[in-house]
Amino acid sequence: MKPDIRLEQAADHAAIYDITKRAFAPMPFSDGDEPDLINRLRDAGALDISLVAELDGKLVGQVTFSEAFAADGSKGWYALGPVAVEPELQSQKIGAQLIELGLAMLRERDAAGCVLIGNPAYYSRFGFRLFPNLSPDGEPAEYFQILPLRTTAPNVVVSFHSLFHG
Ligand SMILES: CC(C)(COP(=O)(O)OP(=O)(O)OC[C@H]1O[C@@H](n2cnc3c(N)ncnc32)[C@H](O)[C@@H]1OP(=O)(O)O)[C@@H](O)C(=O)NCCC(=O)NCCS
Repeated sequence: MKPDIRLEQAADHAAIYDITKRAFAPMPFSDGDEPDLINRLRDAGALDISLVAELDGKLVGQVTFSEAFAADGSKGWYALGPVAVEPELQSQKIGAQLIELGLAMLRERDAAGCVLIGNPAYYSRFGFRLFPNLSPDGEPAEYFQILPLRTTAPNVVVSFHSLFHG
């Protein structure tokens, strides 16, 4: 499946909310907050990169990158997520293409790295690795992953935007 991928526009906001809500609804780990989180980040000007995938003019997926915060004050850290694909179109690499393009944009910015909470079975294919010793307080260490972009051995705790927690 080869969607067109581009930055979100204002006209996409409602469709992003809808797809994210439906994609996460069956997920046992989801608290249902993901579509509202995207809106909170956007309203706060903290939605750094929001890419959407389109097929035949219809929005079929979205990925969010927001600023993340290193404990030592170093800059250039980002968080990936939420990411969602239209349920009927999942497992056809739409999510992978959204994530890979977003990560390419981070590399172009000379980002320090990207963090996320997610299933390592999926995100390891993009180079994310578990760093349980660097997991921020309150986050599940078994799902906390980092893709280091400037060094292979990050040694700083990087936290998500406070809006992730309401
Ligand atoms: C996760 C998601 C964005 C991936 O997009 P996609 O287009 O379906 O994925 P891709 O085609 O790139 O990759 C498919 C692979 O991801 C796996 N996968 C999908 N969701 C997964 C999840 N939550 N955890 C682990 N693996 C997952 C599929 O089993 C498949 O594995 P395979 O390649 O070994 O067969 C999409 O499946 C989705 O919207 N899921 C519901 C919302 C969600 O879980 N978001 C991520 C939360 S961390």
